[in-house]
Amino acid sequence: MLPFIKKRTKIYEGKAKVLYESGQPGLIIQHFKDDATAFNRKKHAIIEGKGVLNNFISELIMDKLSGIGVPTHFVRRLNMREQLIRRTEIIPLEVVVRNIAAGSLCSRLGLEEGLVLSRPIVEFYYKNDELGDPLVTDEHILALDWAAPHEMNSIVNNALRINDFLTGLFSGIQLILVDFKLEFGRVEDEYGETQVILADEISPDSMRLRDSRSGEILDKDRFRKDMGGVKEAYQEVARRLGVLPKDILNGIIPPDGETEN
Ligand SMILES: Nc1ncnc2c1ncn2[C@@H]1O[C@H](COP(=O)(O)OP(=O)(O)OP(=O)(O)O)[C@@H](O)[C@H]1O
Ligand SMILES: [Mg+2]
Repeated sequence: MLPFIKKRTKIYEGKAKVLYESGQPGLIIQHFKDDATAFNRKKHAIIEGKGVLNNFISELIMDKLSGIGVPTHFVRRLNMREQLIRRTEIIPLEVVVRNIAAGSLCSRLGLEEGLVLSRPIVEFYYKNDELGDPLVTDEHILALDWAAPHEMNSIVNNALRINDFLTGLFSGIQLILVDFKLEFGRVEDEYGETQVILADEISPDSMRLRDSRSGEILDKDRFRKDMGGVKEAYQEVARRLGVLPKDILNGIIPPDGETEN
């Protein structure tokens, strides 16, 4: 066994990531796996190297968002598959921002895929796999005390700021941001005041991206629709963002290790 690999306490293992204790107060490790799931785990596959790509892409995006004043959980990347993050109390919502109609919005309302919305829509889904993450409104969220009114304001404001920023970032690399999913969590400062910060990840697993010239799909829809070329699509997004690690360029994808980079 390699001497620097220590046994760590696992906090949670999800579909795409594992959370570990970091040994530092308030901080945990987020490890990105190669597992891909869709349709509430009904479909599963391993996409070699996806975890590495998502780790780098999410790092870049979270870094840029901090730069424009959006508070995030991201502290620093530790290695190819892991990052140090602030531990939050996750608000049990998937916050979805849509610019163009796709996916469940189309099936729910009978819309055609690709319809450009006249303004962005912010939607909330209750994070509960057993219930299939149902759509909820502010009324449900407030009445069930999942978030307070001021927290909802902060979530919506930040979601729209993130949308403006990411739309511009991607349009500069010939990508159209169709929609994306965010998660937010609470942290407490030294005076016991809570603040809502951006958590989880932002990667091609959690958004829909299209090439602005060809319309080519460059995100998890390739997996959902059995189109193949999933890894290549994620690599292309990473390449355009300028975050592709050299090892991946050379076709060497590190295993689930803790190799320093
Ligand atoms: N900063 C954070 N603090 C605490 N938990 C976090 C933080 N960021 C993300 N998480 C949680 O860590 C888990 C990440 O794992 P993963 O995305 O694989 O889960 P999942 O299988 O998609 O399940 P879930 O439906 O809970 O997201 C998620 O439950 C997510 O809400
Ligand atoms: Mg998740």
